[in-house]
Parts: sequence; C-alpha cells; structure tokens
Amino acid sequence: MVGNHAQLAEVMGAPYRILGGGSNLVVADEGLSERVIRLGGQFAATDLNADLALSTPGQLVTGWVGGGVPLPGLLRKLQRLGYSNLEGTVGIPAQLGGAIWMNAGTRFGEAFGGLHSLEIVSPQGTRTVTPDELPWSYRDSGIPRNHIVTRARLKLWRSSPEVVQERMDAADIARKGQPKNRTPGCAFKNPALADGKRLGAGKLFDEAGLKGSRVGNAMIALEHANFIVNLGGATAADVHALLGLMRERVGVALELEYELWS
Ligand code: EPU
Repeated sequence: MVGNHAQLAEVMGAPYRILGGGSNLVVADEGLSERVIRLGGQFAATDLNADLALSTPGQLVTGWVGGGVPLPGLLRKLQRLGYSNLEGTVGIPAQLGGAIWMNAGTRFGEAFGGLHSLEIVSPQGTRTVTPDELPWSYRDSGIPRNHIVTRARLKLWRSSPEVVQERMDAADIARKGQPKNRTPGCAFKNPALADGKRLGAGKLFDEAGLKGSRVGNAMIALEHANFIVNLGGATAADVHALLGLMRERVGVALELEYELWS
C-alpha cells in the first residue's frame, strides 16, 4: 500500500504494476516478478465539502478525490450529498483511479463524463491534465500503462439526493441480468462498426451458442455471454482458453476489456 508521493516515487524506482480495485483483472497462474502498487493513505482521501457549502442547486462544482477511493462508496457519498454526474458508473467495483485509467462505464455514462482534471504520476514526475489533453475513448483513457491516476478533480452538478438516486437506479436496472460475483466483468469491449455504432459482444457470443461453455472451472455465464465466471478454482489458463474460444467463434475483431497480467 502506497500512501503518499514520497513513497510512490520510491516504489516506482523498480519495475512495478498498478492495481486498482483488482476486479477487472486476471493474473497469470505463475504470479508476477514486479512489485504491485496499491494506493491508500493520502491517495484514498476525498475532499468534496468546501464547494458544497457554497453551491446552489443546478450549479457546477468540483472536488478532489483520491485515485485509491473505491467507486461504489464514492457514489453512495455523492448520492447522499446530492452531487450528480457519475451515476452512470453505478455498480462498477473499481477504485476511482482504475476506473479512470480504463474509462470504465456503462451505457449510462463513463468515468470521463464526470472529470474536470486529473493528477497523473509517472517515472517522469507529476502532472495535472484535463480530459481534452488525453486521447480518451470508449473504455480507454489513453493514459500509458505505467502512469498512475493519483487524484481526480470531479465535475459535479449540485442536484438532490432523490434525483441522483433515481439516476443511479435507472443505470442499475441495465445490470440486472448480469452475474455479480466471481467474475472480472465483461471480457471484451463491444466491437465498433464502420459507422461508429457498437455491436453487443455478449449478444454475438450468445448467438454463437457459447453460454455455458466451460474450460476447467471457468464458464461463460448463462445470464450474459460476455461474462466469464469462476465456478471455483478456475485458473488463468482456463480463462485464456475460454477467451480464445470466444474470439474463434465470432467473425469480428475483438478487443479485450479485461486486464491480463502475465
Ligand atoms: N444480449 C443477449 N445475450 C447476451 C447478452 C446480451 O442477447 O448473452 C443482448 C441483451 O438482451 C441486450 C443487448 O444484448 O438486448 C445488450 O446487452 P446489455 O444491456 O447487457 O449491454 P452490453 O452492451 O452487453 C454494456 C457494457 C456493460 C454494461 C452494460 C449495461 C460493454 C462491453 N459492456 O453491455 O459493461 O454493464 O452495457 O450498461 O461495454 C463492463 O464494462 O464490464 C460491463 C459489464
């Protein structure tokens, strides 16, 4: 656990990888040789209240949140305070920094939708950038792999707890048919067509008859075919084999949504 900039600079002196919430990740069965960095301490702090006291309904406010702050708890806090703009990321079991790094989202919104600016630490130092300085897109921030999102300044609308809750409920309904446990989430990004529209990867795998397909103890979920679930003791090799089968069975180029560490 790394809690401040001095500690971060020290651990970044040797090869490292950055763990967010770890929920979108499959780690190689043989383990890793690099150090794994997880943010805590100062990087798990939230400072939202200064603006709130001064703001009025409908007003745009900003507040800093650490990259190590868990997204579900942050959304609960924003709902209680009546801050709107991140509701579309409801149900994503990430830390804020990881969610931003991969621009996690749903059909109702993505991490970059609620961002004013972000602090990024790399071996070259610390910089603060705005989203328009990054080549971000669907499920991609454009931030290089060894760069760490240590803090984000959120861009939020002052609303009411009731309205924020309604928006969260609407986004949550779309996740009702998805498996919630023992899965790293959607395996592949929804592939883009030439006109920019996206095909549902889950629907493609479903139509290819893949639901319930199994390698070892990894199985393509019966509820949604873009999810691989661990039936208990599945290995990374099982997951890789299933991912290979999924690619093979649909005739479209597919990009992984998971992080695979090997
Ligand atoms: N569908 C099927 N069979 C399946 C799965 C889906 O027919 O096995 C159909 C559904 O019935 C629906 C359509 O495909 O008509 C779209 O399905 P869904 O609403 O689940 O949306 P999705 O495009 O498959 C995306 C995100 C999810 C997010 C949901 C809801 C991606 C890769 N997936 O799924 O995000 O939760 O929308 O907002 O963008 C994730 O990023 O890990 C993730 C799960």
